[in-house]
Amino acid sequence: MCGIVGVLGHHEVAPILVEALKRLEYRGYDSAGIATVEDGRLDRRRAVGKLVNLSDLLVHDPLAGKSGIGHTRWATHGAPTEANAHPHRAGRVAVVHNGIIENFRELRADLSGRPFESETDTETIAQLCERHMEAGMSPREAAVATLGALEGAFALAFLFEGENDLIVAARKGSPLAIGHGDGEMYVGSDAIALGPLTDRITYLEEGDYAFVTRDGAEIHDARGRLANREMRTIAPQAAQVDKAGHRHFMAKEIFEQPVVLSTALAAYSSAGQVTLPEGDLDFSNTDRVTMVACGTASYACAIAKYWFEQLAGLPCDVDIASEYRYREPPVSPASTALFVSQSGETADTLAALRYARGKAGRILSIVNVPESSIARESDLALPILAGVEVGVASTKAFMNQLAVLAHLAILAGRQKGHIDPTREAELLADLARLPALLNQALALDPKIAKRTGKLAEARSVLFLGRGPMYPMALEGALKLKEISYIHAEGYASGELKHGPIALVDKTVPVVVLAPRDALFDKTVSNMQEVLAREGRVWLITDATGAQEAGDGVWQTLVMPEINPIFAPMLYAVPAQLIAYHTALHKGTDVDQPRNLAKSVTVE
Ligand code: M6R
Repeated sequence: MCGIVGVLGHHEVAPILVEALKRLEYRGYDSAGIATVEDGRLDRRRAVGKLVNLSDLLVHDPLAGKSGIGHTRWATHGAPTEANAHPHRAGRVAVVHNGIIENFRELRADLSGRPFESETDTETIAQLCERHMEAGMSPREAAVATLGALEGAFALAFLFEGENDLIVAARKGSPLAIGHGDGEMYVGSDAIALGPLTDRITYLEEGDYAFVTRDGAEIHDARGRLANREMRTIAPQAAQVDKAGHRHFMAKEIFEQPVVLSTALAAYSSAGQVTLPEGDLDFSNTDRVTMVACGTASYACAIAKYWFEQLAGLPCDVDIASEYRYREPPVSPASTALFVSQSGETADTLAALRYARGKAGRILSIVNVPESSIARESDLALPILAGVEVGVASTKAFMNQLAVLAHLAILAGRQKGHIDPTREAELLADLARLPALLNQALALDPKIAKRTGKLAEARSVLFLGRGPMYPMALEGALKLKEISYIHAEGYASGELKHGPIALVDKTVPVVVLAPRDALFDKTVSNMQEVLAREGRVWLITDATGAQEAGDGVWQTLVMPEINPIFAPMLYAVPAQLIAYHTALHKGTDVDQPRNLAKSVTVE
């Protein structure tokens, strides 16, 4: 998945393209490139690695032109080399692409003999388009004929030699926005990319293509008919945030959690009752909640499953989006389908939403980006109000996803008669105490920093938890592997003895996330099983738990007491800090770890 941008402007576009690409770097940072047309001449610059390398290249080897396209890449087909970097060019055509062309092998075979330079699927698009132009088609005709041959998911922008005032943009499966300026026009993967340029956006719909010139955009639908797509004025996009004195965005975002959580709590409750910031929601006729998401967002759903079941008595399924859709699960019209995504652009989650549309009674989403595709395609999109999250490792978005999910479970509980208003008010009061408790947990930061040195030496780390702390253990392991590159696994404490305990020896730290809850004694037994095999246990618990845990643990971190049902929200903090400090010890790229991207817009 990648970010694409295009500008038909009145000024030199290279710096504008690079600025817009900066705002899209969350989609990938393996390589970047731009192409421009200057006096009809098409040219390009590309550089491997982060955008800063392209900026440096442009200082030494500038690119003139008032029309251009740009790309930031997360490698799918072909290694992150300059040859594989976009824009791809064949003769008079340059193309930038987000997505995957599934029939590129057939297309490439059909184009054999042509001078391919890269291993990418994208270059076939440029070659095919150029071949159509060699056969006498105009750039517009050639682009449309090319689109007709492509299978898979894509958002594309074409630029042509000899055409100072034309970008052909197309969308199938991957989102694409067209921005309207004053005598200027823009194309971007999302509204965020175009934020500083314009607030007037038209989203292309599935199968649309557009001939974009400085006068506007002529949009056609998948069947080639002229299409009228609404132009929206969007809320100003938050400017690129700074690190507020922290070394990394991830640290800043971890420390922001008490504040962003307070914002969500205020938006979702009032006077001891759950309220929604927008829309109505009635769970009384819902007989099942299905939650679908990827990565960290899926662990938030897995925690919320305990809440929906215990607080609302509602059967609840949690699915990983990439599995859900292809399993073709039956979806009851009496069910509510809930899609959780920080970015709102995750391709698997979006595809899962589309699968459930028309089958589930209602499509809800919980997103951080209100203009995102998932939000726009939902019956009701609930914002998590976490503010821009820059670090690839999701932290504050996870916290606020949990906050919104907790409120929905309480609301469902009241509407289904499973809890009464007094219990609702008590649960909300427990949640209201959380920001202060998060601050206390954050105060453990220096202690955690000191203790992670040993963790950084480990080749493998296990995380254990029971009940809602089990998915929290999965999330703790994901955080650690994402940014420290240490192999880590999360397990349900009781499951360890069914196999994973074979991994335990004195070189394997085992982080046990265990507030003193009803199942604590059982967790202590599981811990003893680890200790008996010389495993090094790092116990994270509260004061009572620390007292009752017995001897032998390697180290204990004492957390504030909390209603155990919401403990995952509090214990997320030490899990995040453990990952962060271990990564610092290892010297990895915390905010942009290798091989990852903030938003995964390919399947
Ligand atoms: O934007 P989304 O919430 O849909 O993203 C889902 C996952 O890609 C994301 O949570 C990923 O697992 C994070 N890098 C985890 O830190």
